[in-house]
Amino acid sequence: MYADTKIRRNTIRDITKLKGERPVVSLTAYTAPMAAQLDPHVDFLLVGDSLAMVLYGMESTIGVSLDTMIEHTKAVMRGAQKAMVILDMPFGSFEESKEQAFHNASRVLRETGCAAVKLEGGAAMAETIKFLVDRNIPVMAHIGLRPQAVHVMGGYRTQGRNQDERTQTIEDAYAIQKAGAFSVVLEGVMEPLAVEITKKLDIITIGIGASPDCDGQILVVEDMLGYFPSNAKFVKRYAEVGQTIDAAVRQYAEDVKARSFPAKEHTYRPKS
Ligand code: KIV
Repeated sequence: MYADTKIRRNTIRDITKLKGERPVVSLTAYTAPMAAQLDPHVDFLLVGDSLAMVLYGMESTIGVSLDTMIEHTKAVMRGAQKAMVILDMPFGSFEESKEQAFHNASRVLRETGCAAVKLEGGAAMAETIKFLVDRNIPVMAHIGLRPQAVHVMGGYRTQGRNQDERTQTIEDAYAIQKAGAFSVVLEGVMEPLAVEITKKLDIITIGIGASPDCDGQILVVEDMLGYFPSNAKFVKRYAEVGQTIDAAVRQYAEDVKARSFPAKEHTYRPKS
């Protein structure tokens, strides 16, 4: 599955120069086989903290640890040869101080070999972003709906519905650009606001529940494959993998009960 011919991995420069040329294609990945399968089709893969919910069945993204994120990122790096890989800094791993953020983000780059970190936050995180970028850690920011802030935001609410939210989101976008982030995820942002921010910024905007006019798009791969029970409006289901698995496992259970599996061709018998 993992071809051994050396392919050059995309760099931040490869991705950022796509602004105005063509949309950036990205998806989440948490495991080596999935990364290998997505690799030919995407510009970058994000090891999102959404894995807390999608893989580990947690109620929110808040409970996942940095150690867990690092192990999954190592797996994704082993699976993907071409895609740039970004690790999503989990809740509690960067907010305390810029020094804490550097300590943890430098560990991420050293231990995983991935190219960049993503962190949630706008103007409030600008100083931290600058501190990291000044010390050679590329940062993708994440503004609009921030799942790690679910409790203070009062749920998973689309941002930019009123003037205060619009002003705050634009301020956030300018602040993280000024701090040196190379890109920003716009999650759950009203479409006109996502378009406005994309036009105003020089850095690439990656939309999820935002606008087709963002500089690129991202989805949680299990959502778009129909393998996670998401009913979010912004998710287009490109497949129904959950149904395929269900049918296969149902058949397996029937075969086992009927003793029709394993069949002759699946068993080892002495040659007579
Ligand atoms: O955790 C995640 O998967 C994300 C993306 C969907 C942007 O943050």
